[in-house]
Amino acid sequence: MKLIYQQMLAFFILIMTLLLILGFSFFHITREVIYENTWQQLEGYAYSLKNQSMMIQTRKGKQVLTLNVDKLRTSEVLLSNQQVRFTIYTSRNDTLYPKKGYKSAISAKDWKKLEKGKILRRKSDLGWRGPDKQNVQNQQRMTDILAPCFDSSGKLVAVISVGAKVSSIQESFTKIQKNLFYVLLISALLGMLISYFLAHYITKRISKLRKVTRAVANGNFDVKVIDNRRDELDDLAKDFNKMTVSLKKSNEEIRLQEQRRRQFMADAAHEMRTPLTTINGLLEGLVYDAIPEEDKDKSIKLMRNETKRLIRLVNENLDYEKIRSGQIDLRQSSFNGMDVLRNVQEQLRKKADNSGNKLEVNGPQKLEVYADYDRFVQIIFNITQNAIQFTENGTITISAERGHRCSIFRISDDGMGMSDEQLKNIWERYYKADPSRKNTKYGESGLGLSIVQQLMELHKGKVEVTSKLGLGTTFTLIFPDKR
Ligand SMILES: Nc1ncnc2c1ncn2[C@@H]1O[C@H](COP(=O)(O)OP(=O)(O)OP(=O)(O)O)[C@@H](O)[C@H]1O
Ligand SMILES: [Mg+2]
Repeated sequence: MKLIYQQMLAFFILIMTLLLILGFSFFHITREVIYENTWQQLEGYAYSLKNQSMMIQTRKGKQVLTLNVDKLRTSEVLLSNQQVRFTIYTSRNDTLYPKKGYKSAISAKDWKKLEKGKILRRKSDLGWRGPDKQNVQNQQRMTDILAPCFDSSGKLVAVISVGAKVSSIQESFTKIQKNLFYVLLISALLGMLISYFLAHYITKRISKLRKVTRAVANGNFDVKVIDNRRDELDDLAKDFNKMTVSLKKSNEEIRLQEQRRRQFMADAAHEMRTPLTTINGLLEGLVYDAIPEEDKDKSIKLMRNETKRLIRLVNENLDYEKIRSGQIDLRQSSFNGMDVLRNVQEQLRKKADNSGNKLEVNGPQKLEVYADYDRFVQIIFNITQNAIQFTENGTITISAERGHRCSIFRISDDGMGMSDEQLKNIWERYYKADPSRKNTKYGESGLGLSIVQQLMELHKGKVEVTSKLGLGTTFTLIFPDKR
């Protein structure tokens, strides 16, 4: 079922339930009030009949009930105009007045209650009969009261029964019932209208959201839902807007990643082709004995170098993927970081010399760092190598110091530096600030810094970089102490 109908039904059922409960209680209360009023009136008649037409006289020491028949007749005529009848009983089955009149059924239980002085009110009684007892047509449903009369000794001498036709009360009920039915009908129609508008209002907002969702599903991330900050639907709209913003971002990110991946594949293929062609050419030369004996050693050395370059390219890719997918376990320990810095300095001194760079190490004799030894070497090596790579005839300084619950390492150079735009991207995989430099002797793949960043994250450390184009770059590495 459509949401609008569900909502309408829910509202309608609620409104109808309320109306029915109210209608039923109203009807019930009115019925009670009408009966109550009728009984009070009947009791009033009984009281005046007793006072005006009945007397208790003492004859020969005995108390006798005497009636003023004239007055009773007048009252009878007057009351019959109002559809009210009365009877005076001396016992359950004997009537004193009228002799041939109507008779009500009084149960023995009721008679006992009357003897105790109680006034009885009865909603309906079928005992009133016309003069002809056999004629069922004359049976009439009556509501009546039964009032007892006592002599001075407290003995029950008579019971006055005053009754009115139930049919006349029923008439009032029917009128009320009819009116109530019309009111219910009008209210139901109104309820239906209100339910429709309420349901329409809610579903309209959901439909709007749906429309926008479809637009997003179709790749349009620039749509927005109006958020009035009123209720949960507005909260949903707010979340939805947030979602489209982040979807747009990640979509853009995926696009960029894909673009870089393609670029890398092209670069990798290009880079692999050169060494493979070299190796292939040399191998063929060796097979056909086309290489002179004295050049054979040189050729093999060249092949080894090219193979190493290929292996490095493949390994870096594999390494990055392993770190990223959490397949690397760090074996962290505390060691002297200064030793590593001096080792790296030794290893890269030649490379630095080749490009006319000075490579310096500053810091205390001993500086404890808590890290995975091999990965720490890899990080320092990578960044120092970059510094040498992008600096000519300059100075590269590796320095170290203690921080608050951490050890801090800085690698600065006064090389070519980077623009702000380039700085933003250096952590991206396959990113090279200047793609024209791709075929340098170090075989750049644009993976070095993304691996460094992943490794720093694994160490729960931090890596920061500042750089000025043409002036130089400084990388800061912060390794937290063991906790
Ligand atoms: N010290 C630096 N000075 C100037 N540019 C730098 C420096 N370090 C990194 N970059 C820039 O950041 C880019 C990314 O560096 P990264 O180490 O990730 O890749 P790469 O050195 O090009 O290749 P790889 O390290 O995988 O062989 C570099 O290509 C370079 O443009
Ligand atoms: Mg590098």
